[in-house]
Amino acid sequence: MDNYASFHQRSIRDPATFWDSQAHRIHWHAPYDRVLDYSRPPFARWFVGGRTNLCYNAVDRHLEELGSSPALIYVSTETGQEKTWTFRELYREVNRMAGILRSLGVAKGDRVLIYMPMVPEAAFAMLACARIGAIHSVVFGGFASVSLATRIDDAKPRVIVSADSGSRAGKAVPYKHLLDEAIRLSKHPPEKVLLVDRGLAEMSRVAGRDVDYAALRAEHMNDEVPCEWLESSEPSYILYTSGTTGKPKGVQRDTGGYAVALAASMELIYCGRKGETYFATSDLGWVVGHSYILYGPLIAGMSTILYEGTPIRPDGGIWWKLVEQYRVTTMFSAPTAIRVLKKQDPALLRKYDLSSLRVLFLAGEPLDEPTARWISEGLGKPVVDNYWQTETGWPILAIQRGVEPLPGKFGSPGLPVYGYDVRLFDAASGEEVGPGTKGVVAINGPLPPGCMTTVWGDDARFVSTYWSSLPGQQAYSTFDWGIRDEDGYYFILGRTDDVINVAGHRLGTREIEESISSHPNVAEVAVVGVTDSLKGQVAVAFTVVKDVAQIETPEQRTAHERDIMRVVDEQLGAVARPARVHFVTALPKTRSGKLLRRSIRALCEGQDPGDLTTIEDPSTLEQILAAVRG
Ligand code: PRX
Repeated sequence: MDNYASFHQRSIRDPATFWDSQAHRIHWHAPYDRVLDYSRPPFARWFVGGRTNLCYNAVDRHLEELGSSPALIYVSTETGQEKTWTFRELYREVNRMAGILRSLGVAKGDRVLIYMPMVPEAAFAMLACARIGAIHSVVFGGFASVSLATRIDDAKPRVIVSADSGSRAGKAVPYKHLLDEAIRLSKHPPEKVLLVDRGLAEMSRVAGRDVDYAALRAEHMNDEVPCEWLESSEPSYILYTSGTTGKPKGVQRDTGGYAVALAASMELIYCGRKGETYFATSDLGWVVGHSYILYGPLIAGMSTILYEGTPIRPDGGIWWKLVEQYRVTTMFSAPTAIRVLKKQDPALLRKYDLSSLRVLFLAGEPLDEPTARWISEGLGKPVVDNYWQTETGWPILAIQRGVEPLPGKFGSPGLPVYGYDVRLFDAASGEEVGPGTKGVVAINGPLPPGCMTTVWGDDARFVSTYWSSLPGQQAYSTFDWGIRDEDGYYFILGRTDDVINVAGHRLGTREIEESISSHPNVAEVAVVGVTDSLKGQVAVAFTVVKDVAQIETPEQRTAHERDIMRVVDEQLGAVARPARVHFVTALPKTRSGKLLRRSIRALCEGQDPGDLTTIEDPSTLEQILAAVRG
């Protein structure tokens, strides 16, 4: 193998030859005729004409060699359930689920929305969709009715797969009433709802629409459902993500490109090998869950741990106990989780035998040096930061240890990953900037295999959102600020748009504002992301109420704050709940009416609010300051 620099250069200079040499990592039912079709930029098609199937690559392909080896390891510290499925057993469950979905009318190209807690049936359902060529749209179980309804309306699923309840820190978090409310709100209700009953919460059933998984499974015990051989560019899934507007975008992923990209990353970035165990602590509802709980490890023939629970129950050693018990070699988590563990007894890091573990990968939000040092020294293992997005599906920046184990630098997710032509552009002029100058992190097309191919149902939005924001450039914008040092290492400096990152969860401030605005007594609201030592950022809301008589006393204000939080909980989910709701009589705006979010945020963080020459009413800033100081 050549070194990093030449490997990366080859991937950029001649992407077709480079990716042709990676494509053998997966099974092709029919070979592709062309590696890359970039005749209609920025739309890239990879492995044109090739036919494959994600489920086949994740499951069937391993049956001969690994049939009796563990594939899916389920651990719930919430319910006490712990169970392992071998590749053969997983194959059986996926075929049953595929048989059930087909019996409910699901065919190739149909959407299936999966709104589930971290249960094995969620993984079966995703793989079953892939098997029959249905397009899954997994919605994070922490989202509530309005978030869900928006996604139902956009994806128009034929079937929704859900469950009675999730569980958080030992308490049931019922799902069904949120789902029913979402379906009531939606303009495109599904034909059928397939329900997994965990026995955690009561659920009412809608006759003719709601069907029971256990009962149907019994009828489909022996089903064998053949794989649908999809053309490489046909969609495998949609995953919604937040941006600048209140309407989440459906990131559409292809099939062949994604499988190749994941397979390559498993070796070249994560250094995972067949028969070993991968443990990603994320949730199937997020992109890390799609790529590195489910598809990536299984495609690589590794077993994967699906974990339901918090990092600190029954105690802060639970993850390390699992590492010992299942001989985990590769682990993937988020900085927030490590900051949570930092508050626990450090002796827990040395209590278990971690000799199997090679590397801890962290992603999803900036990794601060103290956290990186603490965990790396505590475990005695290298920590590798990696930077990417729902849109890309796999890392953009990382130290690619499987290519060349170059040293990392604290605070940096490393170097551009092969396939990504990463650049920094000045936001105002669109000119490329060199080392030491802050710019917008962008990628020159074509995006490599595995990245989003378009916005679901809206090609124009794909172009206008991602490829048109830099003056004079047709480059993909990540909407992150970054800076590169003389050695080519990148440092990520935060978002350029209104997206915030709370405990590694990506949220749009506009969505939160829209939700708060639906409260009957709210006239106007601004939500900003404010730095938080544990969660990275938290959402803070400043509201102008219609009837001030309702917030005269401190007790009334507290009650009102709670009531607004309840609205967000019910509509979007507790993950989007602002940490604080402040009341002001007016919001800082420019004379042309533009909200000065950046100034609000700066004041919240005790910083200089910046250029205020265009502000309409400077007293509004004093109100923000007074509110924050409490
Ligand atoms: O702002 C960047 C931040 O998270 C955003 C993407 O979030 P999401 O779509 O949820 O995908 C997460 C995939 C791991 C990015 O635009 N981000 C992600 N990783 C890092 C990061 N910021 C700094 N360092 C990282 N390693």
